[in-house]
Amino acid sequence: MTKKRIGILTGGGDCPGLNAVIRAAARTLSRDDSEVLGIQFGFEGLLTNAVVPLTPESIRGILPKGGTLLRTTNRGNPFEYPAADGTCVDRSAEVVDNIHKLGIDGIIAIGGDGTLRIAQRLCEMGIPMVAVPKTIDNDLAATDYTFGFMTAVDVATDAVDRLHSTAESHDRVMILEVMGRNAGWIALYSGIGGGADIILIPEIPYRPEAIVESIRSRQREGSKFDIIVVAEGAKRHGGEETYLDKASRRLGGVAYQVAGDIAQHIDLEIRVTVLGHIQRGGSPIAFDRILATRFGVAAAELVLKRDFGKMVALRSDAIVAVPIHDAVSNQKYVDPDGAVVHSARAIGISFGAG
Ligand code: F6P
Repeated sequence: MTKKRIGILTGGGDCPGLNAVIRAAARTLSRDDSEVLGIQFGFEGLLTNAVVPLTPESIRGILPKGGTLLRTTNRGNPFEYPAADGTCVDRSAEVVDNIHKLGIDGIIAIGGDGTLRIAQRLCEMGIPMVAVPKTIDNDLAATDYTFGFMTAVDVATDAVDRLHSTAESHDRVMILEVMGRNAGWIALYSGIGGGADIILIPEIPYRPEAIVESIRSRQREGSKFDIIVVAEGAKRHGGEETYLDKASRRLGGVAYQVAGDIAQHIDLEIRVTVLGHIQRGGSPIAFDRILATRFGVAAAELVLKRDFGKMVALRSDAIVAVPIHDAVSNQKYVDPDGAVVHSARAIGISFGAG
């Protein structure tokens, strides 16, 4: 019997834990005597023939490493591939062709919403595909958690801890902007984890007067500093998200908006920190390494069973397989009336909603 040849790729933004998925999937497949190919730069590697063998030697030592051994891009969509003249062309047929030429029997695509969408479309064109969800934003409804999220929360919590000591020394309001796109998970979890006084998330639009009242109320109780954690997608009540670049929908800068909203109404100095890509880089924490390993193993097992068109997901403590189709575009947001927000409110954290 000829060896099965399985491709693995990572698409979209990087995320702590990608290498742990690659390692787990490659190990599981190699132990089954399959040949494993690493496709570089996401689906683009299937247009440029950027394919490398993934052997036990080449994946050695990658478990604790951030980023992705296979590299990645969020501009390699073969259905809308950027052409030299600035237009986009559909090169999906070439991708399908190259997959056949390479003799690939199955592909494990590790990525976020964009990658899942491409995987689903290629599945519909007959490509045997299994998907692994990835995002630090944790905003995918199909899975309880995505790997990378807890690492981002850990980094942001550490930032809150560090801001605490300097805020307290200077009697300042410290505003920390964290990532998460249009979901407030990173802000909510790191805000609680770091003991923030105010958490602003997209799901609960804020009112400047409520933030000011919360700061004044703490002042009346004798606390002269405040920590505000704001999600990059947060917005004023009746307002819109703040973009660094509206055309590409790159969020950023809402912390400065919040500072401007409250500066005239309080007698404390304000400082802003935008945490940025520090949340996405570096070594994954143990939780993410374990989740990523479980996802990698489960994805490889689906390929070996030829159970294609599925995405692995965490439900309670089980790794399950769900149709990629159902997972695409099905986003998960913080429930303003949910248990986590309830716990935060119960200990006096304000959501700036009045
Ligand atoms: O989706 C992950 C994420 O890190 C978001 O939290 C953030 O808004 C975005 O990606 C940043 O994207 P880029 O790396 O393209 O600036």
